[in-house]
Formats: sequence, C-alpha cells, structure tokens
Amino acid sequence: MQPSAMKLVFLSSLQVLFSLSCFSEVVSAAPSRGFGDNISWRTLDDGKKEAEASGLPMMVIVHKTWCGACKALKPKFSESKEISELAHNFVMVNLEDEEEPKDQSFSPDGGYIPRILFLDPSGMVHPEITNKNGNPSYKYFYSNADHVSAGMKEAQEKLTGDAYRKSHVGDEL
Ligand SMILES: *[C@@H]1O[C@H](CO)[C@@H](O)[C@H](O)[C@H]1NC(C)=O
Repeated sequence: MQPSAMKLVFLSSLQVLFSLSCFSEVVSAAPSRGFGDNISWRTLDDGKKEAEASGLPMMVIVHKTWCGACKALKPKFSESKEISELAHNFVMVNLEDEEEPKDQSFSPDGGYIPRILFLDPSGMVHPEITNKNGNPSYKYFYSNADHVSAGMKEAQEKLTGDAYRKSHVGDEL
C-alpha cells in the first residue's frame, strides 16, 4: 500500500472510533447530582430519544439544589440497591433547578419538589402513577426509597414495551 493510502485507512478508522466514542459520551452525559452513580442518567432530550428507540419507560425526578427534602432523598435513593436494579428497566432522568420543564404535565398537582413522574416510551407523562404510600395532596412527592421502588414497579408493569403497546393497540387502528 502507498504511504498515503495507509494514512487514509488509518485516518478513517480513527474517525470511526472517534464518532463511536462521541456517541457514547453524548448519551451518557447527564450527571447523577447525588441520586446514584450506579445509574445511567440521561438529559431529558436524550432520554426521550432513548425511550422511544428502546420501548423503555422514563422516570423523571424534578429537584432543586436548595431544597431540603431533595437533599434528604438523595442518599436514600442513591444507596438503594433495589432502585439501582429497577433503574435498568427505565430511562433515568433527573432535572435540577432551571432544567424543570415548563410543560404543565410535569406538575400535575403543583410545583413542589422533589417530584417523580413516569413517562411512557412515547414521552407522555402518566399522572395515574403516584406515590400510593405518600401524601394524597402531593401525589408525586417521595421521601423514602421503598416508596420510590413501589412506584417504579407500578410504572414498569403499566408502561413497559409490551404492556404499553397492548393497551394502546386501539389508538393505532
Ligand atoms: C454500586 O456499585 C458498586 C460497585 O459495583 C457496588 O459495590 C454498590 O453496592 C452499588 N450500589 C448500589 C446502591 O447498588
């Protein structure tokens, strides 16, 4: 091979490697903010794309840096093995401060924090998935890990791939 051809082959394989590594960096870019480093966090935009492509439901935590209840939830959440295992079956998103979506569907019964919402793979919020063990006036407020995993299990049953598609077959016909 000519040296210039060698160089070309080398450069194009570098380019492939580079674009692969860029891709994985882009999809794993979101920080944990104290909610657990064992979980793969996504930004809301990347998360929506991934949920749509994978058929996985999305879990979205809305929180603020200055909020005491958020600070209290973080260690309970991040130390829970059950949550980190269940998280494999979700696209996980945490939204801090100004990242809170303006869309009203993300605050079904008020703008308190932290709030946890579950979305189907198409990105629609499902307000029927609430904290059944919590305060009925603040249905999306969670203060302990067991309540979070109970919500995740309910969401997993109702919103994951097949279950979700079956209940929506009617919509598509
Ligand atoms: C996180 O991963 C580490 C290393 O695999 C493990 O020791 C730890 O128990 C995990 N934590 C949780 C909450 O799953």
